[in-house]
Parts: sequence; structure tokens; C-alpha cells
Amino acid sequence: MTTLPPGALTPSVDRTGRFVDLVKSLPDETVVFADARVLRLHRDVAKSLSKRTVIPLTAGEGLKSLATIERVAKRLSGVSRSATFVALGGGTVGDVVTVIAHLHKRGVKLVHAPTTLLAAVDSSIGGKGAVNVGDVKNALGVFHGPVETWLCPKFFDTLSEAQRREGRLEAWKMVVTLDAATARRWMKKTPNDLALLREARDLKEAVVRTDPYETKGVRVVLNFGHTFGHVLESVSGFSLRHGEAVGLGMLCALDVGVDLGLTPRGVAEAIEAALPNAKNARAVLAKLAKVPVSKVAKVLAADKKGSASQLRMVLLEDLGRWRTVGVDAKTWQSRWTGSWRA
Ligand SMILES: NC(=O)c1ccc[n+]([C@@H]2O[C@H](COP(=O)([O-])OP(=O)(O)OC[C@H]3O[C@@H](n4cnc5c(N)ncnc54)[C@H](O)[C@@H]3O)[C@@H](O)[C@H]2O)c1
Repeated sequence: MTTLPPGALTPSVDRTGRFVDLVKSLPDETVVFADARVLRLHRDVAKSLSKRTVIPLTAGEGLKSLATIERVAKRLSGVSRSATFVALGGGTVGDVVTVIAHLHKRGVKLVHAPTTLLAAVDSSIGGKGAVNVGDVKNALGVFHGPVETWLCPKFFDTLSEAQRREGRLEAWKMVVTLDAATARRWMKKTPNDLALLREARDLKEAVVRTDPYETKGVRVVLNFGHTFGHVLESVSGFSLRHGEAVGLGMLCALDVGVDLGLTPRGVAEAIEAALPNAKNARAVLAKLAKVPVSKVAKVLAADKKGSASQLRMVLLEDLGRWRTVGVDAKTWQSRWTGSWRA
């Protein structure tokens, strides 16, 4: 019988409840890496950790650096290999702690306690963690799966509406690409955030189970909306939130799919009407598309999704049916300089 090492990509156990209750089940040797803002906003949570080792972190893209890893590693010298690390925070805390859990003594057990809807729906599943190097996002990364993920809806009470929308957009990404029946049901009546995140998590878990290390061409579906999402995030000078950018990127992918005759127009229109993008999404897209195509090509070249002259994009053939397609420069550029800019 083989014993799997900490971080092996087995499905994590999801537990729903209050953080202050769930935390009681942690072993003595636990290090909680906590978003400092979350500790300030949720005093009961901070109190429940008063006897634990807590390393507060300032969330944001700036946290995702090798400097953070080194700074934190210096505080972990006495911590053994059988310790459990808890990532209490949004996607940036989750990404960094995943890397630290992978590297500390060659791997320790990890628990995710996502505090943003985006992290609960997306980044806490699948075991990916990464740091940025210079302005290259997620340049160095690892796979290190959690043993448990705690879904504590009370955290979402202190998110802004824009942050909640980001999480919902990622959830919609999962259903429109992976599950036509659920997408149609959501189009009739969108479930509440907890139900939405559970259904979306199940869909992502299934993808990750099929293609844990992104070697079978299945996990790539999770990139729907990300090709132009990353471009828009970058050309906005990162003033656009990741989830919002992906929401706009999904509109781009639908447009390109329609242009190529792959996505039926009616399907694209139904999805666009259902997506919880900001009301002025098309106007934001048009404004960002004023950036010259040459700059966009540079961003695309630095990204990992093919070259600017032949992009690999995830496009929809129908609700719940997707394909990766090589998109030539003429197709995406005519949209960029044409209707996205109008
Ligand atoms: N590993 C993956 O598979 C994966 C997938 C998608 C996204 N990501 C990464 O996730 C990151 C984005 O995640 P994010 O949006 O959660 O970012 P984040 O961690 O920076 O959180 C955003 C902001 O929300 C605050 N915050 C967190 N929880 C809060 C709460 N409950 N109430 C109030 N404020 C709260 C944080 O302090 C921060 O200011 C990006 O770096 C992205 O690359 C990773």
C-alpha cells in the first residue's frame, strides 16, 4: 500500500460551517497564515486563534513574491514536517501558502479556508499555487492539494459587491463551459452564493480529477475567458480586478466564437444576458480596446496561451460544449480594433 505524500492531488474534503468551530479540529502543531484584513474584520475569528501560531499576511498581488516566501520561511525554522498549514484568506494568500506548504520540509498538510468568493469557487480547488516574478504573473508555481477546504459563508458578508460579482463570474464560467443543464437552470433562477459556489466547486473538482496535472488537455477549459481576461487586466494597469477581467474576457471569447461560426449567436446572447458582469461591461471593454494592438500582442506573447499570431483559445460550441481553437491574428485584431473599440 502506498502512502500519498502531503499535497498529493486527491479530492479535498469540503466542510461547511463557522471558522471558529472548524478551527477546534486542528492538531496542536498548526500554523495559520491569515489575511490581516480578515483578522481585523472578523474579531471572533482572530480570538479563536489566540492560542495558535498565526502569521498575518497583507493580501494582494504584491504578496505573491519570492521575497514573501523567504521572509515567511525564516519564521518556520522550528516547525516540523508533520505540521498543518492553514491558508485563511483570498486567492493571493491561498496561492502563497500553497507554495510555502509545498516547500516547507518538502511538503506539509494544507487546509484552505477561503475568505473571498473567488477563492472559494476557484483558487482553493486544484492545488495550484504560484508567485509572480517581476511583472510575470504566476511565473513560479507548484501543485500541492489541500486535505480539507472550509467553506465559511460568514466571511463573504464583509466582501464588496464587486468582489462577490468576481466569484459569481468564475462560477458562471464553470457552468456555461461544463454543464448545460445547470447553466439553463441558473439562467432561469440564479442560486444564492453558497449553493452557487458548491455547484461550481463540484464542476471544477471533476475537471481536476480528470486532468490533475494539466497534461490531458481537459483542465485547459478553466481558461475560458482568460486569454483576453489577462490582456485586459494588464492593459488596465491591473486596476481591473482579476474576476472582472475574466468576465469581460468571456464576452471576448463569445464574440470570437461567433465570428468563427463556432458559437451560435443565440447561445452567446443568452450567456451574455446571464453573466453577472458590471452593467457597463461593454463600455469598459470598448475603452480598454483603445490600447494599440501592438501592446496587446506583447502581453499575449508574455502569456502562456500561444503566440499573438495563433492564439489557443477555449471557445464554446454550445452551452456545456467547448473546444480549444487556434485563432489567427486577423480574427482577434479585427474585433480589438472594431467592435470592442466602438
Ligand atoms: N491557484 C489558482 O488556481 C487560482 C485560480 C484563480 C485565481 N487565483 C489567484 O487568486 C488571486 C485573486 O484572489 P482574490 O480576489 O481572493 O484576491 P486577494 O487575496 O488579494 O483578496 C482581495 C482583497 O480582499 C480582501 N479580503 C479577503 N477576504 C475578505 C473578506 N472576507 N472580507 C473583506 N475583504 C476580504 C483581501 O484583504 C484583499 O484586499 C490572484 O492572484 C489570482 O492569480 C489563483
